[in-house]
Amino acid sequence: MDELKELEGAIDLASNELNQMDDDLNLLQQKKANYLGKKGIIANVMSNMKNLSNDERKELGMKSNKIKVLLEELFEKKRKEIEDNIVERKLKSETIDVTLPGVSMPVGGIHPLNQTVMELEDLYIGMGYRVAEGPEIETDEFCFEKLNLPKGHPARDMQDTFYINPELLLRSQTSPVQVRTMLEEKGKPIKIICPGKVYRRDSDDATHSHQFMQCEGLVLGKDITLADLKGALLEMVRKMFDKDRQIRLRPSFFPFTEPSVEVDVSCGICGGKGCPTCKNTGWIEILGAGMVNDNVLRMSGYDPKEIQGFAFGIGVERITMLKYKIDDIRNFYTNDVRFLNQFKEEK
Ligand code: PHE
Repeated sequence: MDELKELEGAIDLASNELNQMDDDLNLLQQKKANYLGKKGIIANVMSNMKNLSNDERKELGMKSNKIKVLLEELFEKKRKEIEDNIVERKLKSETIDVTLPGVSMPVGGIHPLNQTVMELEDLYIGMGYRVAEGPEIETDEFCFEKLNLPKGHPARDMQDTFYINPELLLRSQTSPVQVRTMLEEKGKPIKIICPGKVYRRDSDDATHSHQFMQCEGLVLGKDITLADLKGALLEMVRKMFDKDRQIRLRPSFFPFTEPSVEVDVSCGICGGKGCPTCKNTGWIEILGAGMVNDNVLRMSGYDPKEIQGFAFGIGVERITMLKYKIDDIRNFYTNDVRFLNQFKEEK
């Protein structure tokens, strides 16, 4: 009987093939189908049985069942073997040598401007202030109108502003946070600082940047005077620079303060004697300030007879540049790590 021979040969044939095979589960599946599938050798033998005698058919039936089981075992064994091999190879290729020295990731530092802001926050919180925030996209109303700068007021030209539409703008100062805080506090005393980014349509150069930072301050309460303002600023300057620093207040103009002042700090390079940094004056301007204008108080629901106070706007870049003797404001915004690394705290 040819069929019997074919069946008996199938075992050897299959083991030979499996022995030579790569570790490939797809290929194994295909091979298995060649023997045990619908069109495989076993099925083929079975389909020819109708031409045989009863005895032959019985013998062949029994034999083919046995062979089928043997083949299945053979393929199952190979499948396990392939799977084990694959896992083993993967484990080998993925082992790590834990004795190798580690690769250290470069660690960033806090940006010098943020360091200044953090120092300002620290020292003003120490004096009882809280930190307030406001949006960088601001309304014309909060950035100007409620700060005593109605539309068309000539003093608007002091700040060249990025407008988004007639009502919305990129804030050109942190002073709108004064307005927002007053509206929230509804006539109650206030003691806040507000650090943040501001924007102006300036051409960038060594001393101008279209984006820069300010730290606003606002103190409202009973009987607050210009002397309190001077104290709050002198304290700041002495903590930020050194304890021998002096400040001087010069008359100035801001629509939202009356009187208004510009504040200079004594030059730290020449000690006040005069040098190129202070343009031989001995003084360097660092901020604008003043007593909050009665109109500003009224527009945000405060009665100037009951409550008054001061506001200031510190130039964060300005004092950072003075502190670290940086001569070009653009260094803060070009993100050169060689510059920034100089401000990393020592580990
Ligand atoms: N907002 C003013 C400016 O950007 C600074 C300032 C703040 C002046 C608060 C007075 C009071 O120039």
